[in-house]
Parts: sequence; structure tokens; C-alpha cells
Amino acid sequence: MKPESILITGACGQIGTELALSLRQRYGKNAVVVSDVREPQGELADGPFEMFNVTSEKDLERLHKQYGFTQIYHLAALLSATGEKNPLFTWKLNMDSLLHVLELARQYPIKVYWPSSIAVFGPETPANHTPQHTVITPRTVYGISKLSGEHWCKYYYDRYNVDVRSIRYPGLISYKTPAGGGTTDYAVDIFYQAIDKGYYECFLTENTFLPMMYMPDAIRATLELMDSPKENIKNRWSYNLAGISFSPAQLAAEIKKLIPDFSIAYKPDFRQKIADTWPNSIDDYEAQQDWGWKNAYDLSEMTNDMIKNLKIKLKSSAQ
Ligand code: SER
Repeated sequence: MKPESILITGACGQIGTELALSLRQRYGKNAVVVSDVREPQGELADGPFEMFNVTSEKDLERLHKQYGFTQIYHLAALLSATGEKNPLFTWKLNMDSLLHVLELARQYPIKVYWPSSIAVFGPETPANHTPQHTVITPRTVYGISKLSGEHWCKYYYDRYNVDVRSIRYPGLISYKTPAGGGTTDYAVDIFYQAIDKGYYECFLTENTFLPMMYMPDAIRATLELMDSPKENIKNRWSYNLAGISFSPAQLAAEIKKLIPDFSIAYKPDFRQKIADTWPNSIDDYEAQQDWGWKNAYDLSEMTNDMIKNLKIKLKSSAQ
């Protein structure tokens, strides 16, 4: 069998950093090329890196000629909050780059992973236990690009047999790399501020429930989906994935158990309007059925692990 050669775009981002480290652990560091428009930091810098702007089809082809990729994890994208600041550029970056990757995978035997998001859903979508197949009416340019991307993935699979797989990630919580411009970012920022200042001003209201997931679960889901036999992947748009659903008030109460002096204030901004269009919780029955998905971390396990690890990280970066 040909050895794996893997490209990760947007590898310096929140998901990319941890996915790259997991893939390098599994396949060896030289098998995983990390790419981004900024230099990798820390552990991620130990291995092949390519400065690469995903809107350049020529550069993608050049990299493929050089490395002969067998898998591409195309993570580079502008997220929901940042995307609203420049809608047309967000559309261009998110869509052009996906089409370049799919075109490459049409011509060469490359397995593709591409993340979608809960941002595909809208206010007309049933908000609780949102089903896989339902009314899908995104209101952000990010959500529109993710929904369109899901249809392109399905099209390339049906028409060209491109083995492309996808998950609709909920908001992701992690301590290794900060979140990058989404509406769910509060659930990461709150931990940094709680440890640093004992206080957090939240940009969402206290009762805004959103679907979330701890990063180790999200990475495991991604690898399990990619490892599954091709015939098991019956959904070629993107799989719903459920983790933990909670509100800022519930998260704050959980943090207070470990940092008793912690306090929170609520000052909703433009991101509240986006959050109001997203589900409270997700039904991931198809992911369970097709590739055996099961979430592991609950709210208190996630909170304990975040605080423990972030304390260590912030202490060592202060030294
Ligand atoms: N975390 C993302 C965002 O808030 C949702 O996919 O934009």
C-alpha cells in the first residue's frame, strides 16, 4: 500500500493544530504537511510546513506534485463572526478553496475531509435535537458557504466518486489553540478570563443554548469518520454531530465550582443575532448508525479538563 501523504490546510487554527498533532502521531511527522498563511508555533513547527493561500489553485497543484497527497483535510475557512465583516471575500475564500480541493481529488486518488458546521441551520430549523434532514436556512455567509459546500461534496461523490467526508461541527472548546472568529468562541474565552482575571464579560445572553463539543471528542470523531469503510458512509453531504448543549449561565456555574470567586456579566453584541438563528441541541442518529459515533465528555468533565490544562499552559507561558 502507498504510504499516506497528508495535507492539512488552515493547520494553525483551532482544529488544525490538534488534528495535525494526532495525524503526525499516527503516520509520522513527515507524512503530514501543515499549511497556513501564518507560521506554525510550538510542537506544530516540528515537521513539514508550507506557506499556502488556499485561494490559489496553482499552488495547490504545485504542492500535490511535490508531495503526492493521499488525503487532504481542508480546514481553512473564515468563520461566522469574522465572515460577516467581509461577506464576499468569505464566500470566495470558503468556496473557491473547497472547489480547488474537490477538483484535485477528482483527478487524483485523494480522500478528502471537509468540515461543515451547525451554522448551516437557521431560525426556521427545529431548534431542539435538530434532525439530520430538516429545514436548512442559514443566515450568515459562513453558513451559506457551508451549506453550498455540503452540496458540492455530495455532487463530487455522486458524479466523480470522490471520497469526501464531512461533519457539521458544533462549537469546539479547546485549550491548545484559541478559537478563531466564531460565535461559539465565548465558550473558550471564558476559561482564559476565568483563570486570568476571575471575571468574564460574555457577548451572548445567559440563556443562549448552543451545541458544543470538547476538542478531544471532535478529533476522535474526525478520525473515526475518516477510518470508516467507504460503504458505511451513507451521508455524503455532512453528518450532524452532537456533543454537549449548554448556556453561558450553565458553563459559568460549572466554572464557579472550581474557581469560586469567578463572576460573569452579559453584554450581548452582534454575535447574539447569529446565535439566535442556531439550534440549541443536535440529533446525531445517522452518525451513530453509520460509523458508531458516541460523544464522551460531558459539561463537568470538559470544564475540569479545560481548567486543569489551561492553568498549566498559562503558567508555563508566563514563566
Ligand atoms: N464555531 C463556529 C462559529 O461559531 C460554528 O461552526 O462560527
